[in-house]
Amino acid sequence: MNQPVRIGIIGLGGFAGSHHNTIARLEERGIVRLVCACDPNPSAFSVERQALRFEARGVRVFGDYREMLQACHGDLDYVAIPTPIALHAEMHDAVTSHGLPAYLEKPPTLDWQELDRMVAADRRARKSSVVGFNFIVEKSRLALKERLLSGEFGAIRGGTLSALWPRPAGYFGRNGWSGRLVIGDRIVLDSCFGNTMAHFVHNMLFWTGTPGVYRWADIAAVRAELYRAHGIEGADTFFVEADLSTGCTLRFALSLACAGASASSETVICEKAILRYCVGGQVEVSWKDGRTERIPSGPFDGLEENHLEYCRYLRGEIPRPATTLEDSRPLVVLNDLAHISSGGIHPIPAHLVSMARDAKEQKDYVSVAGMQKTVDNFLGRGIWPSYAGWRRDNGEVVTPADLGRFHGIVREMAAARRAPGP
Ligand SMILES: NC(=O)c1ccc[n+]([C@@H]2O[C@H](COP(=O)([O-])OP(=O)(O)OC[C@H]3O[C@@H](n4cnc5c(N)ncnc54)[C@H](O)[C@@H]3O)[C@@H](O)[C@H]2O)c1
Repeated sequence: MNQPVRIGIIGLGGFAGSHHNTIARLEERGIVRLVCACDPNPSAFSVERQALRFEARGVRVFGDYREMLQACHGDLDYVAIPTPIALHAEMHDAVTSHGLPAYLEKPPTLDWQELDRMVAADRRARKSSVVGFNFIVEKSRLALKERLLSGEFGAIRGGTLSALWPRPAGYFGRNGWSGRLVIGDRIVLDSCFGNTMAHFVHNMLFWTGTPGVYRWADIAAVRAELYRAHGIEGADTFFVEADLSTGCTLRFALSLACAGASASSETVICEKAILRYCVGGQVEVSWKDGRTERIPSGPFDGLEENHLEYCRYLRGEIPRPATTLEDSRPLVVLNDLAHISSGGIHPIPAHLVSMARDAKEQKDYVSVAGMQKTVDNFLGRGIWPSYAGWRRDNGEVVTPADLGRFHGIVREMAAARRAPGP
């Protein structure tokens, strides 16, 4: 019988609350034990702490994560960090300084230089940290990637990601960092591409990563147009084209400025077949000879499966975690190059933007007329929104050699947003 894996969680609210629920369930099964938790204002969570039976479970609660680590590091096997993005690096630094690995929520950071520092800091931990990209551990995904690598579908010719997730205007007010480019001297860059739907972007880079299953694509060049319709600092709508070092091209269209049902579709175009993977929905292989193969993907609890998988890794039952910090590099580089390429975040032309009231939810959604057609034109035919008059200039073609311009460009974007209009 294995001893339960000992966990500390930084945070009590927001998505940290979901980690607590998951860990409580796994603790009942004897797989893990929650040793400690913290929040700058723990008394604000007395109801949750009671519901989670902290006292009976012997969970120690702190008001500062450094104090928690100082007091408990000898009793821990890993620390979960489901906190605001701008705090990830300093918290990961503190955790690894005690030799402990972290379950770090995605994205680890959206600043490529900070990621370098985090990769270096992670070497101090006795085991590699994991980044919580939910969907890499899906069995149906791993099996399909094996088939891709075996050459069964022929060479990969390209891929597309379509991801439209309507979000009400109030969504960006839920915390102090949503939709922000920078806060003080810290790069945040919160967006649908780098955060909300980053899972799917990371999945696309996973499909096209070679030569092994746990490999992500290498970005060679990027062109992007970034837009906003919501009243935020960052972008809520991304059109991005990435050339990979393997020679194939990926196109991404993501937006939170839309109405209707949420939908996302990962498509991989191969010589002999087209693969369509919808998280939580249909997985389909359309063969060029006319056959259609449907693969059951089954119910999937991302957080539970990822904690379970990480415990297996820490116990030495599997050789590696699903996504390491180093594996997150292609996503971070792609996101940073998309911002450099776009150069600015352009408002979607006002005549296309309207508010749509959801009577059932009693919420207002920002909706862009023709969004689906614009997405289809871009993904299917390479027609950029700028050709449809969304902006006058195109995104510049940039390569990883341009990353040195990243910080300056992001600060210019934030300053432009703050400057009074003409
Ligand atoms: N994997 C997923 O599906 C998924 C879903 C939602 C959010 N997330 C990720 O989870 C992370 C947190 O997002 P969120 O929306 O819950 O953020 P949030 O702003 O609601 O913060 C979550 C919690 O972090 C804790 N926290 C904040 N500052 C702290 C500090 N100084 N010290 C200790 N604890 C502190 C608080 O307890 C807070 O409730 C982000 O990286 C986000 O991208 C992942």
